[in-house]
Amino acid sequence: MERFDVVIIGAGAAGMFCAAQAGQAGCRVLLIDNGKKPGRKILMSGGGRCNFTNLYIDPAAYLSRNPHFCKSALARYGQWDFIGLVDRYGIAWHEKTLGQLFCDDSAQQIVDMLVAECEKGGVTMRLRSEVLSVGRDDDGFALALNGASVGAKKLVIASGGLSMPGLGASPFGYKIAEQFGLKVLPTRAGLVPFTLHKPLLEALQALAGVSVPAVITAADGTRFRENLLFTHRGLSGPAVLQISSYWQPGEFVSINLLPDSDLAAFLNEQRGAHPNQSLKNTLAMQLPKRLVERLQQLGQIPDVSLKQLNPREQQALVATLTEWRVQPNGTEGYRTAEVTLGGVDTDELSSRTMEARRVPGLYFIGEVMDVTGWLGGYNFQWAWSSAWACAQDL
Ligand code: FDA
Repeated sequence: MERFDVVIIGAGAAGMFCAAQAGQAGCRVLLIDNGKKPGRKILMSGGGRCNFTNLYIDPAAYLSRNPHFCKSALARYGQWDFIGLVDRYGIAWHEKTLGQLFCDDSAQQIVDMLVAECEKGGVTMRLRSEVLSVGRDDDGFALALNGASVGAKKLVIASGGLSMPGLGASPFGYKIAEQFGLKVLPTRAGLVPFTLHKPLLEALQALAGVSVPAVITAADGTRFRENLLFTHRGLSGPAVLQISSYWQPGEFVSINLLPDSDLAAFLNEQRGAHPNQSLKNTLAMQLPKRLVERLQQLGQIPDVSLKQLNPREQQALVATLTEWRVQPNGTEGYRTAEVTLGGVDTDELSSRTMEARRVPGLYFIGEVMDVTGWLGGYNFQWAWSSAWACAQDL
């Protein structure tokens, strides 16, 4: 049996970064992945440009049953540390919006950088490798792989969540946690588009492709101000992806389609200046014409001129456009979700090292655990920060 100081399962963002750090610190590291390429999600991310971190990393941007868990790792290895690494590799980047940092050229540069860092640490990378079983032995852990048996003093699980099974996602990490008696919190898809009930979907399908700035509020009061996109299946866009992580089945969300304007004041002003102007044309000054036409066909916007719009109708119209209550039918699920909420309970882990409190030598890093960030580079930063914290202990 070949023996290593550390075996890391999952050559994604967290696994590669952890392997590189541990290798460079002198550990003999084996990095295993079931895919044929490392970092497949990194390559897909940010539209191929990888939104690798955010300028405004803040523990408040992470969902977890224990909101304090992420603080230590984010403080010890933050966005500026990773930006420093990216800069050392001469990778050009830019801020797109809301502090989101993207490569100017390609996400491949981030993968190449991580591979180079692993090579610098002498990491052995074994791709297309299935882990058949994991057990304990006198020196730590014994793993049966397809075609080989390996031993490790320490075992790091970096196998990610369930989102995008096409990119290698698997419940492997949760199963290992359960095998060792650790609690796994229920999982669900996050950062995912909403699907709609049939009548509303049919009514809105004609709007597929229309995007508007919006403020969306969840039942718990959490709100995001970003763009909302109508799609053939329902609602998407950054505002919807963000709020999806805070939404529970059966709940309503409230949508303000005119976050930048005082609609009542605008209508009063327009009525004074152009009383015969149609309400439809007036609203089209503030919203996409297709959206206004569709809402009118749905009976949400009366077919009247401004002078015919009575105060009661105006009040109802303002409520429709600024507090539009939508009850999603569900989400598109793991197939299109960017992340998985829930996972290995952080109460089982040390927030300083990511080691399982009850299983010395076993670590969980990245998305497999119950820490999930907002859209915008927060999830990769959690991968880097948790991996770095773990590597210091290997
Ligand atoms: P990750 O999923 O990266 O890696 C896990 C690895 O484990 C995979 O390589 C998988 O093949 C391997 N594995 C799983 N089971 C295994 C098994 N049984 N045996 C061996 N190997 C196994 N985040 C962000 O901050 N900015 C962004 O721009 C984006 N964009 C984005 C786009 C898309 C399309 C998706 C799906 C996701 C994002 N994300 C994102 C989220 C981000 O990709 C995610 O949070 C991190 O990749 C999580 O890193 P991990 O290393 O924990 O898991």
